[in-house]
Amino acid sequence: MNKKVNQKVLSLIEYYNLLNMDLLINNSPINRFENNKKLSNGLEKSQQLEELKKMIGSIKNCELKNSANKMVFSDGNINSKIMLIGEGPGAQEDQEGLPFVGRAGKLLDKMLGSINLNRKKVYISNVVNYRPPKNRRPTDQEIERYYPFLKLHIEIINPKILVLLGSTALNAIIGNGKAISKVRGKWIKKQIGICHPHIIASFHPAFLMRQPDQKKLAWIDLKLIREKMKQLNF
Ligand code: URA
Repeated sequence: MNKKVNQKVLSLIEYYNLLNMDLLINNSPINRFENNKKLSNGLEKSQQLEELKKMIGSIKNCELKNSANKMVFSDGNINSKIMLIGEGPGAQEDQEGLPFVGRAGKLLDKMLGSINLNRKKVYISNVVNYRPPKNRRPTDQEIERYYPFLKLHIEIINPKILVLLGSTALNAIIGNGKAISKVRGKWIKKQIGICHPHIIASFHPAFLMRQPDQKKLAWIDLKLIREKMKQLNF
């Protein structure tokens, strides 16, 4: 091989090494976000949650995080068997760093109260942990980016009943293209990481404030949750 070609080959090898050969020979889509986030072994539940909080706090280049005031991680009882997932923080949640403390939260508290639940008996989080600017819906990319954290959050809490409030939570957990009006009112089976919760989707309280005539359907869903709690003996 002459000297020039030799030099070319050497720089090509260097180039490929730099680029990471795997990416070049693997034509499956590149997953930009690590999907299987893991926690350190042997931690207590509360420590696992602290570690998860730190992971979320170290997210970089995120429009949501950059424009938000506070991270909104969760509220409620970490040992609860019922976990509720909303969409994302609003203005008041962003100020206080707690989910569902605004007007929709007041309605959620009433809904929980109607089946003898409250914030000390359930655990609440959201699909995204930072307020979307101007309360817009999180984009598909944002939902995808936060999903590994949400999955880990569910795995740590390991609820027996998972309540998805609104279409963003439904789409994040069950998949796109499902209408909440078609899916609500029935139990859904889906494994989430190591968890096998009974999943139910219902209307988001903010939607119910705009469409109060839908509250009768939300009441049916609440009664289903109450029945399931009885069946599961809690
Ligand atoms: N709406 C949500 O989906 N989550 C909150 O925390 C508040 C309002």
